[in-house]
Amino acid sequence: MADFNGDQILTVGSQQFGFDSEVSVDVLRSLYLRPHYVTTSSDAEDPSEVKDHAHFLQGHQHSAYQSKSIYHAEDNTISYTTLSRFPPVRLLPPSARKRILVTGGAGFVGSHLVDRLMILGHEVHVLDNFFTGSKTTVSHWVGHPNFELIRHDVIEPFMIECDQIYHLACPASPPHYQFNAVKTIKTSFMGTLNMLGLAKRTKARFLITSTSEVYGDPEVHPQPEDYWGHVNPIGPRACYDEGKRVAETLTYGFHRQDGVDVRVARIFNTYGPRMNPADGRVVSNFILQALRGEDMTVYGDGNQTRSFQYIHDLVDGLILLMNSNETRPVNIGTAEEFTVLDFAKLVRDVVAKVQAEDGIKPPKKVEIVHKPMPIDDPQKRRPDTTRAKETLDWQPRWPVAAGVEEMVRYYAAKLVEGSI
Ligand SMILES: NC(=O)c1ccc[n+]([C@@H]2O[C@H](COP(=O)([O-])OP(=O)(O)OC[C@H]3O[C@@H](n4cnc5c(N)ncnc54)[C@H](O)[C@@H]3O)[C@@H](O)[C@H]2O)c1
Repeated sequence: MADFNGDQILTVGSQQFGFDSEVSVDVLRSLYLRPHYVTTSSDAEDPSEVKDHAHFLQGHQHSAYQSKSIYHAEDNTISYTTLSRFPPVRLLPPSARKRILVTGGAGFVGSHLVDRLMILGHEVHVLDNFFTGSKTTVSHWVGHPNFELIRHDVIEPFMIECDQIYHLACPASPPHYQFNAVKTIKTSFMGTLNMLGLAKRTKARFLITSTSEVYGDPEVHPQPEDYWGHVNPIGPRACYDEGKRVAETLTYGFHRQDGVDVRVARIFNTYGPRMNPADGRVVSNFILQALRGEDMTVYGDGNQTRSFQYIHDLVDGLILLMNSNETRPVNIGTAEEFTVLDFAKLVRDVVAKVQAEDGIKPPKKVEIVHKPMPIDDPQKRRPDTTRAKETLDWQPRWPVAAGVEEMVRYYAAKLVEGSI
């Protein structure tokens, strides 16, 4: 994969603010491209005959960390085993090893952050109620001495000793956060209140993942952090948008009143492997529709614009922000802007390229079809990331075509495996 300058991306992360977060892309890839299971048939019970259904890892140098669970198609059962080996993690001296709590750590963003923090050698505690997340996203760490997975709903108080809290717990996609709007507001408000209370008691540094949705349907383009936003307080998206706004208000209340050390990341549209396909988010929808040979659905005329950031860039930004001295909100997103229609065409081309490379003949030519626009869908959204550049020396590195290709390979492998 090449970055915006055409240089190969071999590692992600950086060494800044006294925190070395550099990790090999290949090691991370081996964690999400790891098959969940291999398949066998009744007459091939000998493990040596087990067919590796998820052929994508063949010859991969990190295949030693893959799951050995076996799916028996004949009676639709699955035998779970533990991993043969955990991926190597850095051995840090106790003075450098942090106890890090990640709420929502079994979700899309959280699981990638957990992979990074684990490989860096920290002690990671994941708190999740598995509403939209899944144990499978972090199952490769279960049993590791540095890792703990706790089922807990953040709307209830929780006590643990920790040095840093990454507070991510909150459904992030419209179908999920609108499924139970009252619960979404409770998660944003009470969940953040509880986690800030914990940060106050333990003197942990607290980072919240806020969102570009705090800008609503913006009248300013691109959006800098000091833009106050244009949000409909009673529309169907309000439970999320206003929930995050009040969560930010709470965060700065604890900062000013109680001296809690806070960080606020305003995240723009992010995509990557492990996105829940049920999310209904545009990137996963387009990729799955194109891979299945279905028509791709564009809402409205497709001239609304979006910018899409790859997950590794976001995790770089979150770790940098946590370890910096920046207490103001920081936009983390990619400014590369696409109309939704152009993006659909790009996804269709990348899927065709990957299928050609894998020798797969698509069932039919994928067409793009238009449907009516949902209520309150923002027309334009693009981050002004000057602050992230100036204070964190952070800039996105993954061009959208490179990230989409990575995600197409992930979903293609999951479709072959039959796990989505
Ligand atoms: N992905 C994006 O594009 C994006 C953009 C802006 C902001 N964000 C923010 O980043 C964070 C993570 O988003 P994501 O895309 O990984 O979403 P996700 O839905 O994949 O992950 C959210 C996680 O939080 C857990 N969760 C939800 N409610 C909970 C509760 N009450 N108690 C405990 N756990 C709970 C879910 O089970 C899930 O594991 C969210 O705070 C979201 O608002 C994401």
